[in-house]
Amino acid sequence: MRKMFVAGNWKMNTLAQSAVELASGLAQVVPARLANVDVAVCPPFPFLSAVGAAVAGSGVDLGAQNVWFEKPGAYTGEVAIEMLADVGCRWVILGHSERRAILGETDALISKKVNACLAKGLPVILCVGETLAERQANQTEAVLNTQMAGSLAGVEASAMAHVVIAYEPVWAIGTGVTATTEQAQSAHLHLRKWLESRYNPAVAAATRILYGGSVKAQNAASLLEQPDVDGALVGGASLKVDDFLPIIRAAETARKS
Ligand code: PGA
Repeated sequence: MRKMFVAGNWKMNTLAQSAVELASGLAQVVPARLANVDVAVCPPFPFLSAVGAAVAGSGVDLGAQNVWFEKPGAYTGEVAIEMLADVGCRWVILGHSERRAILGETDALISKKVNACLAKGLPVILCVGETLAERQANQTEAVLNTQMAGSLAGVEASAMAHVVIAYEPVWAIGTGVTATTEQAQSAHLHLRKWLESRYNPAVAAATRILYGGSVKAQNAASLLEQPDVDGALVGGASLKVDDFLPIIRAAETARKS
């Protein structure tokens, strides 16, 4: 059975004090690892250490939002995998649509990052998703195929135990428009079938596929009840304990056998 996973992507939000307050608040309401839901928060780089300290020993893991694939050296402005591991990161988000669209990240670059993280033992949350224009042109599955094949190039089946996929339709991110449960389930099932044909049935059955895009307390339960939705990657609603906790609770009750 796939364990549910709810991760908060804080994006470029919070300051030192508010980041620690948010993290401490979460650690208080999730004081120990939950039996059937993994929980993580991914703050901006400058606050990783402080947030890591605030959630230490609780049921909340630390993740980062990006990384560079080279070993430490002359890469001004970048952050190495070793640095994330050193401050206690257990996850890194890669290939988020904002990095693809705004920072120009390609599948080729993302696959370098994915492979480097997996080689160094840092588990990855790999984001994929189509734009509105692509969906309207019936290109959703083709886009997902391209992103999956490109971003996972060179990743062996044995490494997939350390990869979580996040399906995030670009048109649903930060817009308040959520994919319907049918749209989410259909895309997730497509991704699972892709994993089966690229890898094997065991990888397809074991890989967690999160939904992301305007997840909130009101829609979390119905999304998380879908058979191929194994959790949520949450942006806006992860910035307040009162918004994030109900999503974690929905994941706790949604898991099917
Ligand atoms: P949102 O962001 O929940 O604010 O839509 C999700 C994400 O981009 O990971």
